[in-house]
Amino acid sequence: MEYGPAPESQKEAQAWLEQRGRKFGLFIDNAWSEPGDVFASTNPADGKPLAELTQATADDVDRAVQAARRAQPAWAALGGHGRAKILYAIARLMQKHARLFAVLETLDNGKTIRETRDADLPLVARHFYHHAGWAQLLDEEFPNHRPVGVVGQIVPWNFPLLMLAWKIAPALAAGNTVVFKPAEFTPLTALLFAEICVQAGVPAGVVNIVTGDGRTGEAIVKHEGIDKLAFTGSTEVGRLIREATAGTGKKLSLELGGKSPYIVFEDADIDAAVEGLVDSIWFNQGQVCCAGSRLLVQESVEERFLKKLKARMDNLRLGSPLDKSMDIGALVDPIQRQRIHGLVEAARSEGCEIYQPSACEIPADGSWFPPTLIMGASTSAAVAQAEIFGPVLVAMSFRTPAEAVQLANNTVYGLAACVWSENISLALDVAPQIKAGVVWINTANQFDAACGFGGYKESGYGREGGREGLYEYLVPVSEDARPALPSLPKSSASAKAAAPSSDPFAIDRTAKLYIGGKQARPDGAYSRAIHGAEGAFLGEIGEGSRKDIRNAVEAAHKAAGWTKATAHNRAQVLYYIAENLAARGREFADRIAAQTGAKDAEREVQASIERLFYWAAWADKYDGAAHQPPMHGITVALNEAIGVIGIVCPNENPLLGFISLVAPAIAVGNRVVAVPSEAYPLSATDLYQVFDTSDLPGGVVNIVTGSADELARTLATHSDIDAVWRHDGSLEGCAEVERLSAGSLKRTWTGGAKGRDWFSVQQAAGRTVLQHVTQVKNIWIPYGV
Ligand code: NAI
Repeated sequence: MEYGPAPESQKEAQAWLEQRGRKFGLFIDNAWSEPGDVFASTNPADGKPLAELTQATADDVDRAVQAARRAQPAWAALGGHGRAKILYAIARLMQKHARLFAVLETLDNGKTIRETRDADLPLVARHFYHHAGWAQLLDEEFPNHRPVGVVGQIVPWNFPLLMLAWKIAPALAAGNTVVFKPAEFTPLTALLFAEICVQAGVPAGVVNIVTGDGRTGEAIVKHEGIDKLAFTGSTEVGRLIREATAGTGKKLSLELGGKSPYIVFEDADIDAAVEGLVDSIWFNQGQVCCAGSRLLVQESVEERFLKKLKARMDNLRLGSPLDKSMDIGALVDPIQRQRIHGLVEAARSEGCEIYQPSACEIPADGSWFPPTLIMGASTSAAVAQAEIFGPVLVAMSFRTPAEAVQLANNTVYGLAACVWSENISLALDVAPQIKAGVVWINTANQFDAACGFGGYKESGYGREGGREGLYEYLVPVSEDARPALPSLPKSSASAKAAAPSSDPFAIDRTAKLYIGGKQARPDGAYSRAIHGAEGAFLGEIGEGSRKDIRNAVEAAHKAAGWTKATAHNRAQVLYYIAENLAARGREFADRIAAQTGAKDAEREVQASIERLFYWAAWADKYDGAAHQPPMHGITVALNEAIGVIGIVCPNENPLLGFISLVAPAIAVGNRVVAVPSEAYPLSATDLYQVFDTSDLPGGVVNIVTGSADELARTLATHSDIDAVWRHDGSLEGCAEVERLSAGSLKRTWTGGAKGRDWFSVQQAAGRTVLQHVTQVKNIWIPYGV
C-alpha cells in the first residue's frame, strides 16, 4: 500500500507571519522594539525565507537585563500562588494554540509535524503545568531559598520551543525574571511565545526575548546584571561560557553535547530494540543531544539485529516535514548537512562500510541527509567520538557486559544511554555503571518535567526538570549570611627559627604527604616551615607538586571500590574516624591553638567530631526518588557520587574546614585529593594516623600540602578529576579554578572572597552540600510492555 500525501495546513502560521509583516523587533518589557539590523530565518525544507529577525546588540541586551531587573522584586513578591496562576495560564494557552506552534516550529526548524505535534508541544505544556505546581509549593518545599535574580538563557535550534519551556518555566516558578535568546536558525516560536506571555498576564519585564546569533549570546553571558546563565548547545560554546563567567559569581548550568550509547544485549526484544533505535537516532534527524548515536550490540545477535535495522531503515520516509506521514524531515541548515557529509565521507575513506537506503529520495530543494548506518569504525574514529548531530548511527559490537560498559563509557560525553535486555537484573546492574545523566532501559528518548535531565562529564552540569532542576534557579539564604573573610595573622613576619626542643623525646618530624593510604615524601623533596600564631616554628610540611597531585589522583582512582561500598560501611568508617579523633581531641585542640592562636580550639575539635557524625548520619539517608512520569513504569532518580574531587580547603578553622568538605564528599562515595589550609596545614597532616586506624581504605582521602595556588591549578587542569572546589578565600584563585575547569568541564564549587561560618550547619552542611557531592542519574524503567 502506498502512502498518499497528508500535508498539514500552514495557512494559519503563514497568516501569523504575514500579519506581523514578516519582520520582528525584540520583545523587551512587554513591548516590541522597532526591527534593527535584521537577519533571515528560512524554511530548511525548501530554503525559502520565512521572516526577518533583529540582531540584538549589547545595548539591546542591556535594556532587556534592566527591564528584567526592575521586574524581578515584584515578580518574586507576587508569591507562589500568583506565579502559579500565570504559569498555568501559559500552559493552557500553549495547548490552545498547539497547532499554530507546531506548524510554525516545523516551518522554522524542518522537523516533522508528527514530532512537533506529538512530542514537542505536549511536553511544553506539561512543563508549564508541572512548574505552575512548583511555584505553588515553592515556599513549602524549598524553605530558606530565594530566587537567583535575573537569568540569561541561551538555547539551540534542535528543540526551540521545548528548550524555551525547559528554561523559562522553572526560572519563573522560582521567582526569577529572564532574558531569553533563541537560536538564530529557529527564533519564530519564541516570538509567538512572547505574545502568549502577554495574554497570560506575565508582567512587563519578567520575560524578555532577544534574537540574534552568538554575538547576542556573548552579550548576555558578559552582562554584569545577569545572576545566572542557563545554556544548552555545543560543548565548545559551553566551554567559552564557563571561561567567560569564571570569577563573576554567576550561577551556571550547561546542557551540552552527547555521543550516547545504545546497548543491545543478546536477550533483548530485538524488534522492540530496533524500533527504539529508530526513535533514538532518527528522531529529529538525529539532531538531538541525547541521540543514541553509538549502537553497541552483542556479537551473538549483531548480524540479526543489523539485518532487521537495515530493513527498517529501508522503510523510513523522508520528505516534506509538514506531511503527517513522514518520519524524517529536513536538517536545520545546509551548514549542518555539509558537516555531516564531511564526517560520513571521512569514515568512508577510512574503510568503514556505509549503509543508506537506496530508495530514499532526497528532495531537490532544502537541506537533507538520508538515514545512515556506519559499520567497521574503530573506537577512536572521528565518527565514533564526535557528536555528528545528524541521522547517522555508528555500530559496534561487544562480547561481555563488562566490555559493553567499557565501550559505553569510552567517550568524553555522558548525557544519556539506552540498555536493552529482558534480564532486568542485568539491565539494572549495567545502568549505574554507565557514566551518564539519563539511562533508558528498554525504551528511548523519554522525557518528563518531573524527571531531571542533564549530563555527566563534558555533557555539562546542572539538571533541567524535577526538584533538582528547581535548585538551579534558587540560592540558599544562608549564602547571603556568610561573613567577611577573617584576616589571617601574618605569622611569617615574626617567624622564629626552629629552636632546639626542650622535650627530651623530641625527634625531628616533617609531615609528609598522604597518598594511597601511605605517607609519601614529596616528589620534589622540598619542604616548608610552618609557624604558629606567635611566630613560633611548629614543624615542616612537604611541598607538594604537580607530580604529587598526579600520584594522588591515580591513588584516588584505584580506590574506586569505595564508591561501591555500602552506605552503611562508609558511615561506619566516618564514625570510626570521629571516635579516633575524639581519643586525641586534646592534642588536636592544642595544635589548632598553636597554629591559629584560637582561644576556643576545643570547640573546633568538638564541632569536627560532630560534623563527622553528621555526615555519617547522612551517608545512608540521601536517598533518590522514584518518579512516576506519564508512562507505565517508574523513573528512579539516583544520587550518585561524582568521582574524584579535588578540594582546596579553607584557612580559617583548619580542622573543621577540612572535615566539613572532605567528610560529605566521601560519605556519598567520592574519593578526594585534598589540599589543606596553606597557612595551617598541620591539623590535616595530624589526621594521617587517625585515618590509618579508622579502616579508611587507602586512596579514598589523599592529602597534598603546599602552595594552594599551584596545587589548585594542577587540580583544575587534571583531566581525570571530576570536580574541583576552592574555599580558601582567594578570589583570584577561585576565578582561576573556574576558568581552568572549562578544559574538561569539571564541576566547581568555589567560595570566592567571603568567609563561611564552618560551625553553622546552614552555611557549611545540609542539602546544599549534598548537591555538590552528588549528581542525579535518572533511570527509566518501563514495565508490563
Ligand atoms: P552553538 O552551541 O553554537 O549554539 C547554541 C546557542 O548558543 C545558539 O543560540 C547560539 O546563538 C549561541 N551562541 C553561539 N556562540 C555563542 C557564544 N560565544 N556565547 C553565547 N552564546 C553563543 O551550536 P550550533 O553552532 O548551533 O551547532 C553546532 C554543533 O553544536 C552541532 O552540530 C552540534 O554538534 C552541537 N549542538 C549541540 C546541541 C545540544 O543540544 N547538545 C544543540 C546545538 C548544537
